[in-house]
Parts: sequence; C-alpha cells; structure tokens
Amino acid sequence: MRKIMTNSTPAFADGGKTHIGQPMDRVDGASKVTGRAIYAYEHQAEGHIAYGYILGAGIARGRIAAIDTAYAEKVPGVLHIMTHKNAPTQPAFGPAVTPTVRDVFTRARPMLSTDEIRYFDEPVALVVAETFETARGAAGLISVEYASEQGAYDLRGHLASAYAPQRTNAGFETDSLVGDFEAAFAASPVKVDAIYTTPYAHHNPMEPHATLAVWSGDAVTIYTSAQTLANFRAGMASTLQIPAEKVRIVSPFVGGGFGSKLIVHPDTVLAALAARELQRPVKIALTRQQMFANAGHRAKMIQSVRLSADREGRLTGIAHDVCSATSRFEEFCEQTAVFGRSLYAAPNRMTRHRLVKVDTNRGEWMRSPGEAPGMLAFECAMDELAAQIGMDPIELRIRNEPAIDPERNIPFSTRNLVECMQEGARRFGWEKRQARPGSVREGRTLVGLGMAAAIRPNYIGASEARVRIDGRGKVTVQLDMTDIGTGTYTILAQIAASSLGLPVAAIDVQLGDSNFPRTAGSGGSWGAASAGSAVHNACESLKQKIVASAREAVASPFYGLSNNRIDFVNAAIRAGGRSVRLADLMALVAPHGLDAQGAVEAAGDNYRNYSQHSYGAHFVEVAVDMDTAETRIRRMLSVIGAGRILNPKTARSQIIGGMIWGIGAALMEESVLDARHGHFLNHDLAEYHVPVSADVPDLNVIFLGEADPNANVLGSKGIGELGVCGAGAAIANAIFNATGARIRAFPVTLDKIL
Ligand code: MOS
Repeated sequence: MRKIMTNSTPAFADGGKTHIGQPMDRVDGASKVTGRAIYAYEHQAEGHIAYGYILGAGIARGRIAAIDTAYAEKVPGVLHIMTHKNAPTQPAFGPAVTPTVRDVFTRARPMLSTDEIRYFDEPVALVVAETFETARGAAGLISVEYASEQGAYDLRGHLASAYAPQRTNAGFETDSLVGDFEAAFAASPVKVDAIYTTPYAHHNPMEPHATLAVWSGDAVTIYTSAQTLANFRAGMASTLQIPAEKVRIVSPFVGGGFGSKLIVHPDTVLAALAARELQRPVKIALTRQQMFANAGHRAKMIQSVRLSADREGRLTGIAHDVCSATSRFEEFCEQTAVFGRSLYAAPNRMTRHRLVKVDTNRGEWMRSPGEAPGMLAFECAMDELAAQIGMDPIELRIRNEPAIDPERNIPFSTRNLVECMQEGARRFGWEKRQARPGSVREGRTLVGLGMAAAIRPNYIGASEARVRIDGRGKVTVQLDMTDIGTGTYTILAQIAASSLGLPVAAIDVQLGDSNFPRTAGSGGSWGAASAGSAVHNACESLKQKIVASAREAVASPFYGLSNNRIDFVNAAIRAGGRSVRLADLMALVAPHGLDAQGAVEAAGDNYRNYSQHSYGAHFVEVAVDMDTAETRIRRMLSVIGAGRILNPKTARSQIIGGMIWGIGAALMEESVLDARHGHFLNHDLAEYHVPVSADVPDLNVIFLGEADPNANVLGSKGIGELGVCGAGAAIANAIFNATGARIRAFPVTLDKIL
C-alpha cells in the first residue's frame, strides 16, 4: 500500500451543513436521458472501426473435429476470421500472470485457443468485417464438425458425484459446525425438514456486454462495460501477456452489471486480440442470446434446511445444506448458507456447501451471491416453523435474536433487525394478517401477507482517490470506480462537497478510467463505502494542504494564523473571525491548484472485532386467483437498517431494484438447462421472464436513522444487494398465507400452486 493518508475526521461526526444524506437527483441524470452518456458500444475511435461477431459452439462438450471458414472468407467485407487454428498465442487457462489479486478475477481468460469445447455456445470462431451485418452473415457460412462427448447437465442426476470444495466464494469455510445439530434435531419436539430448489438464473443487465479495443503501439485502450476496472486491467494483461500499464480500461457509464461485469468475457478478450491482429479498432457486442452462455449465471441449487425448536419457538438447531451445480473447468461455490452463521441464535448449528460438476460455463457472482438463493430457502423454512408452532413469524424471529454473532462470538456493529421488523409491521398493517392460510378471500381472489428478514455482509475494499482543486476553486475528483446505475457519481460528489464545504455542483467527479487511482470497483455492495471513504479522505487531506498554503502564503488573509480552528463552509474558509471565499483564497495562495490523495484499506479491525452486516425486513401482500393461481404482488414494503444513508433517493432505487429482483426470483426467473444437450433453452428476454412494470406495484422503502461508526469514516453500510435478500421468501410466504400452498421449488409459478 502506498503511503497515503488513511486516518481522518469521521464524516458523520461533522456538525455543519452536509450534503450527505440529502435525496439529491443524479448528477449524471440529464446526460443519461439526453444520450450524452456514452456506453461501451457507442465509443468511437480514430481509424476505421471493424466489427466482430462471435460464432458459438453447437455442442456443450467435446472437440472441434474440423472447421471450414473458406466460404465465409470469400464474403466481401470480411477482414479476418479467427479460430483455434490461427488465434494468437495466449497463456493456457490457469493462474493469473499477476498474482496480486485473487486469481479468479484476474487470471488469463484465453479464447479460441484450443479445439476443446467446455460449454454450449463457447466461442469457436470470430468473424471480423467492415460491418456487423457482414460479420454475422459470414459467421453463418462457417461449418464446424464436432466430436461430441456425453456431458453432465442435470444436477439432480449427478448428486452422487457431489464434493466439498476448498472454500466458498469470498473465502468462507465450506462447512461450519457448532454443538451437535443431529442430536438436537432428533430430540426436538418441533422440526422443519424441507428441501428447496432454486434455478439457474441470469443477470440480464439492460446493457449487453460490449467492447471496443484500440491499440496504439504496444498499448491497448479497451472501452467496455465493467464493474471493476482493476480486474479487467489485470485479466486482460494476463490474457494478452503484456504489462498492466499497457492496458487502459475505460468504462464511464455502465448499463447495469449485477455481478456479470466483474471479470472479462469473450467480447473483451476477442476484441483486443482481433484489433491487435488487424491493427484496427475492433468492436464486439454479445447478443442477448449469447450472454446466457458467455456472461455468467447463477447456478442451480438444491438446499436442505432443517430447523428444530422448543414449543416456545426457541431454535435448538439450524442446519443448512446446499448442493450447487458448478462448471467442470472452473469452480464457483456460491456462499449460499453463510449468512445463516450469524442471522439467528441457536446452540446447535451446521452449514455445508457441496458442488456437482456439470458441463456449463462457470457460475458467477450474481446480485447478492449467497443470500439471494440462500434466504429464498431459509426464510421460507422460518415461516414453515412459525406456522407449525402457531406463532407469528416476526415473534419467532425476535425470540431467536442473538445478543452477539452466534458463530464468531463477537459483537454486532449496528444490528437493527428487530426494529426493522417492528417498524415494518406497524407501517404495513401486519396485525391484519390472518394466521390461518386461505382465510382472506375477495371474490375469486385469495389474499395473503408474508414477511422475511434481510441480511447482507458489509464490506470495504482497498480504494484510492485523487482530488484536485484549481486556482479558481473548481474541484475534480478522480478514481477508477464505476457507476453501474447505482448513483456513484452523485454520492461521491455529495461526499466531496460535504468535506470541502462546497456546493455539489462545484465538484466534477470523474470515474471509469483505469488511469485514475485504483478502487475496489462496484461489487459486493462495497462500492459506496470504499470509494466514498477514499474520496472523503482525499478531500480531508486536500483541506490540510489548503490550510497549510493559507497559513504560509504571505498574500493570504490567514497568513501566520497558528492553531485556530479553520472551517470549510458555504464555499468559504473561516478562521479567526475572518471568512474568505475558497475560490478567492486559491487564487491568492495556490493559483496553480493543489492535489491530494486519499485511501481506505480493506476491512480492518472494525470488521475483525465486529460482525458487520446490513439488515432489513420485507413485507408483502399478494393476491392469488383461485381459478388460475395467477399471483399478483399488491404492495411491498422494506424497512432497512444499513448505517448512514448517503442519498435516500439513490438508496431507495437500489432497494426497490433489489425488491423487484425478489419478485423475479419468487415468481418468474428461471433459466432452463436442457438436460440432454446442455444449453439454456430460454435464452432471451421473451422466454426468460423478468418483472415488468405491470408486475411491480408501488414499492415502499423506509430507512431507519442509523449510522455505524465501526463501518467506515462515513458511517454507511452496503445496500446494493440488500433489497433482494429475503424479498422472494417474503413473497412465497405471502402466497402460503393466501393459499396454504407451500411451494419449495422456485420460481413459484402458477402450475405449481394449482
Ligand atoms: Mo456483485 S454480484 O459483486 O455485482
């Protein structure tokens, strides 16, 4: 770690005027709605851009026996056809060249480098032509003969091959064991023993993956859609076998990622390779269909949840066993049961993660890896337990509220789960819920209420930021952070403005360029806290430099001022009864401007000494048609306790986005993998259903007034993934309350309810 100031005044301790916490509109909103925000495929380059089209494999496992590109090559306008026969040498698929960051994010991802097919629609050829249409047309003229092998595609059919990985994603132990669960379970008068299944699912960001690669000598600039530029830079350096300094990643606007843009995918690798071959800029986009095989997915899982309790609802045992599909060539073990290690108290506890290898592309991080599928199952099991005992599901959870983290045996930082549930119950009218399922009927409609808890770990990742103030007092903030639709530009401007006592409009936030200081990027709900802390610290450091200049410059009104308190407020500096506009002061004392850096380190003592999570409670009212089982969400409320909310408007958008993901997970989203041939059958938005406006009622979000002094200098916690955690379970629980049908195979489609 470079020597950059990391300690400074807590931002949440300031008594003065602050922009933090204001529901500001997005500073980039106007540029987005007027088309001035440039997305990956829209970037232009000097020189004539060539267009690539990727041809994908028609089998899921085997080899390319023969590939004939002769016809395609004759098509006028075709410039180059790359296959495994002529692709540039790349490192074998293996550990990263630069082992500075975890392998999985930065390793080489070679394309077209062998004749082996590892998953359906894996790239077998790239056609580059003068136009996209020419490239795609020519790709259709390539004939490929395959030597196909029998693959494994069915999780349930291959359960016998399940194995325990070394670790889950994010480095957690695969198994945890406290006390003697089996004995407690056997002895318990009340128990739930249920199997839930969650399907393959796809991120489907609105903006498909796309890249423009432009070489200049031995250096490449890659315009792409990325969540974490440092990963892309390292991954591309490893793949291209060039130093990281020769790779520049540019991604100023990102049309959603949800985890599918944390690592490089075929568009990025192939555009860079082809552009180097042709000495021309090359642009490649994945089609929506191609994204289903080539841009990550959430794996299918079978989850067993067992709960035992006494008759008063005190849990005596919790067991969560997860078996997940994984790729044969690159393991991904979603940490599906890990949240349960801290959610509820119980003396006997057990979690296990197992994997079954199948012949698909690798699973990837997808919004709230772990909690999203895990809470879908677990929070339904809690509802089943409540129903069995005849206890209100909120009361059941309150009875099992732990005083300290039950497996790590350390205190919680802030944990307001109980308050979230109680506040939500009050506001939602939970007292109207009828405990007996199927008791509320309006004509031919059954109405039910359901709830579930939400938990998501709070992270912070190493990040740096640079801030510059020019001689006229204009401030520029630079870092390689991204705004994936979350509102990063806005909250960073608010943070800088608050620190410097300037209006938000005086701050120019520049993101999405790997030439800027490195951050942890957007992922894992750590973006705002990590990048925000770095920006705050950079601004605090800049203030010290401004103060030093103000004291030292003879021309300064504050010349020689010793230890007086100096405040930055209302675009002015105030000390010793004098007030000078910051812009005027800069012109006097530092006409060439001043620069400062700030940093934050990855999770430190606060995270070792405290159990750090964001919490919430979801409430849902559903209406189920008695004849067709068509399910409609009538209203939904989420109450959130997630530290200090930096901007309630953008934060609300994050939470309602997550709630809508919960609607999708509960009712619609499912990628069907053909068990014979290993391809995703419903690989477009016509057949992979996501909630549309008609499926989403008015959603309501309440934030508890909270600040977590142990989380970071801002007092904030992650919220990007919190909204989806448990949201689907609340819906399934409401369906049970409406109908008495307990559907454990997600999504809960009408055929299952009937
Ligand atoms: Mo997230 S699944 O780290 O974008």
